[in-house]
Amino acid sequence: MKVAVVGATGMVGEVMLKVLAERNFPVTELIPVASERSVGKTITYKGTDYKVVGLETAVSMRPDIALFSAGGDTSVEWAPKFAEAGTTVVDNSSAWRMDPTKKLVVPEINANELTKEDKIIANPNCSTIQLVMALAPLHKAFTMKRVVVSTYQSVSGTGVKAVKQLENEIAGIDGEMAYPYPIGRNALPHCDVFLENGYTKEEMKLAQEPQKILSDSTFSVSATAVRIPTAGGHSESVNVQFENDFDLAEVRKILSETPGVVVQDNTATNSYPMPIYAHDKDDVFVGRIRRDETQPNTLNMWIVADNLRKGAATNTIQIAEYLIKNELV
Ligand SMILES: NC(=O)c1ccc[n+]([C@@H]2O[C@H](COP(=O)([O-])OP(=O)(O)OC[C@H]3O[C@@H](n4cnc5c(N)ncnc54)[C@H](OP(=O)(O)O)[C@@H]3O)[C@@H](O)[C@H]2O)c1
Repeated sequence: MKVAVVGATGMVGEVMLKVLAERNFPVTELIPVASERSVGKTITYKGTDYKVVGLETAVSMRPDIALFSAGGDTSVEWAPKFAEAGTTVVDNSSAWRMDPTKKLVVPEINANELTKEDKIIANPNCSTIQLVMALAPLHKAFTMKRVVVSTYQSVSGTGVKAVKQLENEIAGIDGEMAYPYPIGRNALPHCDVFLENGYTKEEMKLAQEPQKILSDSTFSVSATAVRIPTAGGHSESVNVQFENDFDLAEVRKILSETPGVVVQDNTATNSYPMPIYAHDKDDVFVGRIRRDETQPNTLNMWIVADNLRKGAATNTIQIAEYLIKNELV
C-alpha cells in the first residue's frame, strides 16, 4: 500500500507513524504530508528517511490510503481531492463525522458497514471512541436510555501547541498559549469552541456520535467536557441508565469479554484505570463499576484510554486494516 499520513508532524500523526510500524501495516511507500511550514523536513519511518511533502504533491502521487489528522479545514478541502484521485481517506477530524453520506467507524462495533464505495471514512472523536467501546456491549445486554458523561481530558488532545503550553508553564517559561487560561494546576470546563446552545463542540460530539456509531437513536447522551493538566490519556466519569436491570458481576463479565476493553476494578487493591497507565496502550480501561444507588437500573463507571492511540491513530489504522483485509481498498 502507498500510504499518505496527512498531519505527519502533528501529535496524532507521529503516533500514527509509530502504530503503523508496530502493527507492520503493509506500507510499500510512505508519503508524510504536512503544511507548507514543514515541507522538506525529514521523517524517519522504520529506519528510512522520507521528506515531508505538501498536499498538492501528495494527491498527485495517488496514494491507496490517506490517513488524515490535520484539522477540519484541511479535511474539508482536501479529502474530496484525494477521494477523486482514487485514494481512500480515513479522517480523524470532525469534518465528516456527522455527514449522513459518510460512515463513522469504531472497527470493533460497526466496521461491517464499510463498502468499496466509502472513499472518505470518519474516525470518531477521541472521547467518543473510548465511551462507545464500553457502552456498546452493555447497550446490547441491557438497552441504554440515558448516559451522563463528564470528561477529564489531557492536553495532548488539543495538539502540539497545548502540550507545549503545559511544558512551558511547568518550566516557568512565558510562551505561546493554546488555551485562554493557564492549564497547569487548573481545570478548564472548555474543550473545543462554545456553541449557541451553551455546550462546547466537544460536548456535542459526545452527545451525537454514539447514536450514529451504534445506529440507534433511542438513547441520549448529556456531556460536560473538561481539560485537565495530564499529558496524555482521557478519563470519563460515566452514568448510564438502562431499560433493564443488571447484575454487577455480569457487567464486569461482559466488559472483560469485550475485545479492546480491559476491566481494572478492585477497590481492595486500589485497582482502577488511570491515564499514566493507559499511556501508549491500545485498550480502553474500565473501573469503579458500581450501582447508582439513587435510581433504578443505573450504573456508574470510570473509563480511561490513550486519546492518541485508540482515540485517534490506532482506531484509524484498524479501519485501514479492515479495508485491506476485506479487499475494500
Ligand atoms: N490529539 C488528539 O487526541 C486527537 C484525537 C482525535 C482526533 N484529533 C484530530 O486530529 C487532527 C490533528 O490533531 P493533532 O492533535 O495531531 O494536532 P497538531 O499536533 O496541531 O498537528 C496538526 C498537524 O496538521 C498539520 N497541518 C496543519 N494545517 C495544515 C494544512 N493547512 N495543510 C497540511 N497540514 C496541516 C500540521 O503540520 P505542521 O506541523 O506543518 O503545522 C501537523 O502535522 C485534528 O483534526 C484533531 O481534531 C486529535
